[in-house]
Amino acid sequence: MPATLRTNADLEAMLDTNDEWITTRTGMKNRHIAGEHEATSDLAIAAARHALDNANIEASEIDCFIVATSTPDYAFPATACLVASALGAVGKPAFDMEIACSGFVYGISVAASLVQAGIFRRVMLIGADKLSSVTDMTDRGTAILFADGAGAVIVERSATDGLLGCELGADGREPSLLYVPAGGTRRPLDQAGLEERAHCIRMQGREIFKHAVTKMVESTNAAFAQAGLTPSDCSYFIPHQANGRIIDLVGKQLGLSSERVLVNIAEYGNTSAASIPITLSEAVARGDIKHGNILAFSGFGGGLSWGTVVWRWEA
Ligand code: COA
Repeated sequence: MPATLRTNADLEAMLDTNDEWITTRTGMKNRHIAGEHEATSDLAIAAARHALDNANIEASEIDCFIVATSTPDYAFPATACLVASALGAVGKPAFDMEIACSGFVYGISVAASLVQAGIFRRVMLIGADKLSSVTDMTDRGTAILFADGAGAVIVERSATDGLLGCELGADGREPSLLYVPAGGTRRPLDQAGLEERAHCIRMQGREIFKHAVTKMVESTNAAFAQAGLTPSDCSYFIPHQANGRIIDLVGKQLGLSSERVLVNIAEYGNTSAASIPITLSEAVARGDIKHGNILAFSGFGGGLSWGTVVWRWEA
């Protein structure tokens, strides 16, 4: 994780906000912020090396690299190409997936499908974002939420399938609920856009909050139903860390006790596609997750987009 912390006290010094408001409304205390010259691929490479070390394998043993990100180093080439080569896996297939904060959930469904179809034996999926690069630090509605980070998993063929159930969805009718207005082909970035900070995230927080709770609950129920299970079979629910109150409401509506809902939002804020793999990797490091556990990864984000994957942990 990037070393520099942005605390609620730091935000108090920059904006008309305070620790009590931020903590009550979001559950956030700290965020990790990448350096000016640190790009998303740098965060992704560090997370990938960590995953390779944990699995005790070489990058050359990975058959395909996927980076889920909405803050790539460049419009193109894909960040995954840079990451794979930096790891020494020149020549291996590599591509990005852009579906905002749902990136990890969509990504793991694709990684598992490639493995289950027999196309690859091992796929590395990295969720990485440098949201600080698109955060308007004059907008207190968003500046308090977003941060930087990366997490990685390796999906490999095994005797039994890890992916038990999957429900994904998207609704592109109102992109402006959560989007970056300028810098794409709809509105190329120009001087006026820069002055308006139109290259930064714009969000209708209340609307997003409501959609997030509804869609995460619906998709979790649907993914468990597809697996022939119910949320009560879940060993650990690992939600996208967007807002502590969203996570609480979703956990309650699913009937999950708080010990089964993994939350680290106080330390990291919202790291978009990185939040689920970071939370998973911390739980694995603590030894919480055991062979055979049933996990649910549930995400929500710009698009709108959402989804839940039910996964049996085989490691
Ligand atoms: N500090 C202090 N006051 C703030 C503030 C801040 N950082 N941000 C907004 N406010 C103020 C507003 O100006 C408003 O003041 P008013 O009543 O005088 O107009 C008041 O607090 C309520 O604003 P509102 O936006 O309705 O607050 P909220 O309870 O909805 O909380 C969010 C705002 C952004 C924390 C919340 O809507 C949220 O988290 N939404 C989901 C966002 C999200 O998860 N996005 C990513 C999805 S992947």
